[in-house]
Amino acid sequence: RVPALPTDPARLEAAARRVLPAHAFDYVAGGAGSGATMRANRAAFDRVGLVPRMLRGNHVRDWSTRLLGTWMPAPLLLGPVGVQSLLHDDGELATARAAAALGVPAVLSTASSHTTEEVAEASGRGPRWYQLYRPTDDDVTASLLARARAAGFTVLVVTLDTWTLGWRPRDLDRAYLPFLRGVGTAIPFSDPAFRAGLARSPEEDLGAAVRHRQRLFTGTAWGWDRLDRIRAQWEGPLVVKGIQRAEDAQLALRHGVDGVIVSNHGGRQVDRAIGALSALPGVVASVAGRVPVLFDSGIRTGADAAVALALGADAVLVGRPFAFGLALGGQAGVHHVVRCLLAELDTTLALAGYRDLAELRATEDVVAGAP
Ligand code: FNR
Repeated sequence: RVPALPTDPARLEAAARRVLPAHAFDYVAGGAGSGATMRANRAAFDRVGLVPRMLRGNHVRDWSTRLLGTWMPAPLLLGPVGVQSLLHDDGELATARAAAALGVPAVLSTASSHTTEEVAEASGRGPRWYQLYRPTDDDVTASLLARARAAGFTVLVVTLDTWTLGWRPRDLDRAYLPFLRGVGTAIPFSDPAFRAGLARSPEEDLGAAVRHRQRLFTGTAWGWDRLDRIRAQWEGPLVVKGIQRAEDAQLALRHGVDGVIVSNHGGRQVDRAIGALSALPGVVASVAGRVPVLFDSGIRTGADAAVALALGADAVLVGRPFAFGLALGGQAGVHHVVRCLLAELDTTLALAGYRDLAELRATEDVVAGAP
């Protein structure tokens, strides 16, 4: 039995801090550099607000939507979070089970601590989205995509913002390089140098570990032509994650994407970047409904999700909130967090006077400069 978990996001995080080893907590809670981008993500939410309408007769409501062929009960997804076995032994399996029970898609990270096939099985009849960190080696990319397709993953999320890892002082101070572990279990990796790097303890040689980690995530800048190659290797919907500028959204469209995710990786990559929510309206305007625009980075509550949707996001993702739930209660912990988000989203939108997403998308009842 899982003891009752906090509903309040700050208390949830504090509770997770008490149960997790310090390096695991820092891995989840930490951000790039000084943490300014993480703070900006939250501050951006404090600068916009809903202007509720009364007596709208919206007793019956429906937030369900179909996005890139995936039905969901509300426009909410669990973002890709790598190496979840650090937080709970069941890791990605627990997350997949909780998400599937609620019909919410959980995006599986390339850096999963369980194999693609195991997570697919755990997700049962639930939706399956797969996130790709582009490896240096085209054959490895092809193999990852073939496995994801064979395991029933329908939507590919290609993360653009992590071609090399951000400067994360909390991880560096602990000589703690979780991606090595996650990717090591997920990929039958053929590169002998990479395998040698895995065998070596990161604590022994931080420099070597960093080099090996970068070898996987390339550490090499790639361009839009590489995205074309991935596009050519994936028949289903492809979404790019990490867009923050209207012109990048335009480039993505020109390169044949089926959706974009406005995100700054939860403030884990570029320190001193703008809050992700501030980038959302410009991208929404520039995409102009041609493909779905999703959003993440900084959402902690259902009301935060409501504001991002009112600003034009077709769906939102969360990262840290469900990761803390996983740490505290495994599958039941993730289930608790997602249920709270869904319930608060409904309550907020109900009290603000909406009955469905079409009404919310047409709204002008969200204002800048508030409260
Ligand atoms: C992430 N994120 C991430 N993104 C991705 O594309 N692949 C990954 O493997 C990971 N791994 C990961 C681990 C941890 C511990 C965190 C907190 C985040 C980023 C994630 O998908 C999402 O963009 C952010 O978490 C959203 O910000 P919030 O909700 O955490 O503020």
